[in-house]
Amino acid sequence: MQNLIRAARSAQKHAHAPYSEFPVGAALLTSTGKIFTGCNVENASFGLTICAERVAVTKAVSEGYRKFRAIAVVAPHKTLTPCGACRQFLAEFGDIEIICADSRRPGNPRNFRLSQLLPEAFGL
Ligand code: THU
Repeated sequence: MQNLIRAARSAQKHAHAPYSEFPVGAALLTSTGKIFTGCNVENASFGLTICAERVAVTKAVSEGYRKFRAIAVVAPHKTLTPCGACRQFLAEFGDIEIICADSRRPGNPRNFRLSQLLPEAFGL
């Protein structure tokens, strides 16, 4: 999955994170092998910030893709795991693999299933 991490690192460069100075990149792999990327997009009204994972998912869904295999997420200094809101957002589309890597040392990722990170996800 190094190619997915590479795509996430590339998207991280586009992060708009002037307030946190914490750029995040994500790359979502569809069941057809297509990759959609995302970065965090912050706003002066802080609560409007959108996480990298949700940008990638909304890009994919808006182009007709709903079946996903995995998402890679990269952040500086640490192997970030997706925030609670993003876990629930991802759960809408199934129990995918989540690959978390430090963008500066991407060779040693942590891998999870979404159901490990969000057991008993809310559903209607
Ligand atoms: N952030 C993400 O993009 N994804 C996450 O899963 C957690 C946090 C972003 C939001 C904000 O722009 C910055 O990281 C600091 O919280």
